[in-house]
Amino acid sequence: MRTLHVYDFDTVIDRKRTNSVKWDFCTCCDGADQMLPMWVADMDFQSPPEVMEAVLRVAGHGVYGYSEMPSGYYDAIVSWLDTRHRWSVQPGSLSYSPGVITGMNVAIQTFTAPGDRIILQSPVYPPFLASIRNNGRQVVNNQLVLRDGRYEMDFDALEEQIDDRTRMLLLCSPHNPVGRVWTRAELERLADIVQRHDLLVFADEIHGDLVFPGFHHTPFASLSPEISARTITGVAPSKTFNIAGLKASVIITENTRMRHAFDQAQERVFGLYTANVFAIAAAEAAYRYGGPWLDQALPYLAANVEYVQQRLARDIPQVSAVQPEGTFLMWLNFSKLGLSQAALRETIFCGAQVGLNDGTSFGEGGDGHMRINIGCPRAMVEEGVSRIAAVL
Ligand SMILES: Cc1ncc(COP(=O)(O)O)c(C=O)c1O
Repeated sequence: MRTLHVYDFDTVIDRKRTNSVKWDFCTCCDGADQMLPMWVADMDFQSPPEVMEAVLRVAGHGVYGYSEMPSGYYDAIVSWLDTRHRWSVQPGSLSYSPGVITGMNVAIQTFTAPGDRIILQSPVYPPFLASIRNNGRQVVNNQLVLRDGRYEMDFDALEEQIDDRTRMLLLCSPHNPVGRVWTRAELERLADIVQRHDLLVFADEIHGDLVFPGFHHTPFASLSPEISARTITGVAPSKTFNIAGLKASVIITENTRMRHAFDQAQERVFGLYTANVFAIAAAEAAYRYGGPWLDQALPYLAANVEYVQQRLARDIPQVSAVQPEGTFLMWLNFSKLGLSQAALRETIFCGAQVGLNDGTSFGEGGDGHMRINIGCPRAMVEEGVSRIAAVL
């Protein structure tokens, strides 16, 4: 009989002075020397032991020359998508990208023209907006609506917003920051719209593995061959196994003509061919062996969410959070406090010395909100909520 390995998510690991964006570069409040950072979306856990071993093996070799992805790397990704998401893709549909957002930018440049209109659904991860604007395309905001405490897509508005110049929709699935894991029915309704209006979709599914019990992530491209033919999908082991710093994202384009165009643009314009030597080994090990680790991380994260909800209800009832169905992020609503956003920032960042993401950075619908990252040991979540409770 195999014994179950129990992973440790409780130990607080000191990440200070490791060049961590979250811990060493938080600029939320000048002079706040006791800042507890709960912002940037990485977790404070060690990665699965197999991932650490893979990285150490590469490190110990001492020669870090140019590297290429072996077939085992592709096989591990394909097998993961198949077993976890019932999405069967060919290894040839995969392209390397250092980041999903890099892939999004390449897709925008390759498949749309300056001045074209691209849809996003705010509040949403800030680089969505930047990727459209920085490439000289026009932003169309199909803002999410809050119905009965749950964010939903506004399909009626979407139909009206699409015109002849609209080319692409940036889908965030699961959605950061509101934590929705879009149902198959919702995605099918969206698919019907993008098909009728001949839109391309960039599906950012970086949080697709981080789904809580009772919810199910459906890869958008898996809905039908017709939808797959117009979809470019970004996935990554970075959030799932906490290896964002290794830059090992994957772009999946099943439409062969589009994949060639994507790969060509990436290589010609950006000189991007292959991953770094650590990323290759870590990504393969993560997808091949990391499942049991993830299966224990998810209930831990769900319990962190539950803890925050209970503390809000008990100690800070004027602050609420929509219930996330996935991700390790929670979208906190402070609007009942009646504070300006500047006063809210001052209160949370400088008063409580807790580093959160300012809601307004997620676009329209973000006012009065902040995003908290609960991908950390319970003790840190307790400390963060207690600090916030103490200043409100
Ligand atoms: C929805 C979403 N997409 C993309 C990223 C960043 O991905 P990458 O580092 O692969 O560009 C994040 C990180 O927080 C995210 O939340």
